[in-house]
Amino acid sequence: MLVWEDDVQGEAHTPQTTPSNPSQGLGEVPAASIAAPSFASAPQAQPAASSASAQALSQRRVNVADKRIINGQTDVNQLVPFKYKWAWEKYLATCANHWMPQEINMSRDIATWKDPNGLSEDERRIIKRNLGFFVTADSLAANNITLGTYRHITAPECRQFLLRQAFEEAIHTHAYQYIVESLGLDEGEIFNAYHEVQSIRDKDEFLIPFIDAIMDPTFKTGTLQADQTLLKSLIVFACLMEGLFFYVGFTQILALGRQNKMTGAAEQYQYILRDESMHCNFGIDLINQIKLENPQLWTPEFRAEIKALFLKAVDLEYRYAEDTMPRGVLGLNASMFKGYLRYIANRRATQIGLEALFPNEDNPFPWMSEMIDLKKERNFFETRVIEYQSGGALSWD
Ligand SMILES: [Fe+2]
Ligand SMILES: [Fe+2]
Repeated sequence: MLVWEDDVQGEAHTPQTTPSNPSQGLGEVPAASIAAPSFASAPQAQPAASSASAQALSQRRVNVADKRIINGQTDVNQLVPFKYKWAWEKYLATCANHWMPQEINMSRDIATWKDPNGLSEDERRIIKRNLGFFVTADSLAANNITLGTYRHITAPECRQFLLRQAFEEAIHTHAYQYIVESLGLDEGEIFNAYHEVQSIRDKDEFLIPFIDAIMDPTFKTGTLQADQTLLKSLIVFACLMEGLFFYVGFTQILALGRQNKMTGAAEQYQYILRDESMHCNFGIDLINQIKLENPQLWTPEFRAEIKALFLKAVDLEYRYAEDTMPRGVLGLNASMFKGYLRYIANRRATQIGLEALFPNEDNPFPWMSEMIDLKKERNFFETRVIEYQSGGALSWD
């Protein structure tokens, strides 16, 4: 069983290559490496040129030492030979945890939601705000991966994980939509919350410039400035979006589940939390490997900029906590989240090699670690089959 909050000290931190020469970086895989597969042209080579052609073709074989996370010059269509085994192992782990939203029984949640005494107004507010943020957040995440990050990453093992991650973001959007539909919520209200609820809007407005920067069709890596732009976007996405902005919402819904309320929704969130924890850890490994291969990017000015973004993100997420919990509810209150967010921010900062931003912060919600470390055979909310099976072989307890 993998520990989802595994420290990233490991393979990703072991220098595997000499840093790439920045002057080599063209930001794209050369046309030759993505042209027609070499095996197609080999039999048609002219006899007189066969020796030279064979030599040229053999030179196009991928040498593992040449692979790079960004600005690589090797053929992105060749998954092997592996260089970044941590990426492939995380890909396999995410596949092993496949789940689908409709496998989770929502009948108790529907009854609770429809019962006038089933939930307090504050609890209903938390659920609607949560869905209001998440129904569009995971679409932003999917777009960021497929239209932005993916084309700038030149290691095929990492691209493989990103493809799986993008599908998981689609599953998460599906899960939130499934909860909205199951409870009969006002879709217009929930899906427009990111326009209409200020605390949600502020978080998205913080994120969008970093997504837009790498989705711009004219954006290419290969210069110091462009590579820093990509690295910054990766840090914001992994450490601050998936690694911080999701945590007030996850904690709130899982706290509801722990009180035996909305256990179907809580179960969905629990699986999403596990996925997101893996996304965050993959992103951190990716960031650290890029740092290893491109140490020139990690300047004092760049680190100061990242630190300021961390502080801004903690502030925005705390304001979201205040907005979603104007009063204490479920044994939680906004001020408890101040400590929690600082604790998480410290962890993310140290995971990418920055100093802790808020010394001596403890985790006020240690039970969240247990939730993240979900084991397949364990079912906290008992809404789902005990042992995971995919497809039509499921039955409800
Ligand atoms: Fe997601
Ligand atoms: Fe994610």
